[in-house]
Amino acid sequence: MTIKTRITELFGIDHPIVMGGMQGVGRAELVAAVSNAGAIGFLTALTQPTPEALYDEVQKTRELTDKPFGVNITVLPTLKPVPYDDYVAAVVEADVSFVETAGRSPEPFMPAFKKAGIKVIHKCTSVRHSIKAQKVGCDAVSIDGFECAGHPGEDDIPGLVLVPATADQVDLPLIASGGYGDARGLVAALSLGADAINMGTRFLATQEAGVHENMKSKLVESSERDTALIFRSMRNTARVFKNEIAEEVMKIEAEGGTIKDVAHLVSGERGRKAMAAGDLDGGIWTAGMVTALIHDVPTVAELISRISAEAQQLIEKRLSSMVA
Ligand SMILES: Cc1cc2nc3c(=O)[nH]c(=O)nc-3n(C[C@H](O)[C@H](O)[C@H](O)COP(=O)(O)O)c2cc1C
Repeated sequence: MTIKTRITELFGIDHPIVMGGMQGVGRAELVAAVSNAGAIGFLTALTQPTPEALYDEVQKTRELTDKPFGVNITVLPTLKPVPYDDYVAAVVEADVSFVETAGRSPEPFMPAFKKAGIKVIHKCTSVRHSIKAQKVGCDAVSIDGFECAGHPGEDDIPGLVLVPATADQVDLPLIASGGYGDARGLVAALSLGADAINMGTRFLATQEAGVHENMKSKLVESSERDTALIFRSMRNTARVFKNEIAEEVMKIEAEGGTIKDVAHLVSGERGRKAMAAGDLDGGIWTAGMVTALIHDVPTVAELISRISAEAQQLIEKRLSSMVA
């Protein structure tokens, strides 16, 4: 038996589980592992230094899996300008079937995606942005609650309210994101009106994730109290792991500092170097509250089959037995 939803149908996958874009992490090996396990992974476009490198990464992923996968394109304020149109052109050229957009409305890119027959899943953090995504022709919406790693937006609405509120107002297939890490979350999300879950942080603590072992162990040790919100004062909030650098950034923000005052602490280059060395206090790294629910470092296939099997048990045994 499997769980069949509008999202498993849309992507042609076995399990209603998605791995969204992860800067610095969403590369061919991990994406292929997720797709090979019957879920769907998204390569992160901007992890590749150039649009040409993204094209090559798509080809590399194809060598590792013949299952469906996609590409995430995230449009956020960056210190260096990004040639977004060229990344979109590379995705079209590579004949990708699915794109996850995030950060800004995908409206400017929709004509190119539609012309190429690409299905667009827009990941956003509010009901109003989901409604807009539907209006501009997206094929599905992924809704990130306040719990999520990365950018939860500025409204601070947790998934327990955000997911059903979105399901009430949007007809598109819906992916619940933020705070999901096990079967309980998947069943809860399906109950709330979603057709799948999207996980980021949980996939960092898998064998195939190309991150330092120190990070995987730290995620296993950590609790729900170990994340922090930085860039609040700049209205570009990011949920990251609460380490020494995150604490320092929050202190500077509280004292009225601007992006210039924290740029040396938060630069991507600093983060990349520190993470490659396993120095978890050396730079900013992204993680969500779901760290509380991470207790091991399984293979991706083990994780996905465990979530799917336990979800079916929860539905068939625990929930059914409660119906008098
Ligand atoms: C290390 C890391 C990097 C991320 N980078 C991106 C990104 O570049 N673009 C994006 O849309 N989301 C990014 N995310 C967010 C995830 O795609 C996903 O929405 C989020 O992790 C869901 O919350 P969860 O971590 O509680 O599962 C990132 C998450 C993590 C953990």
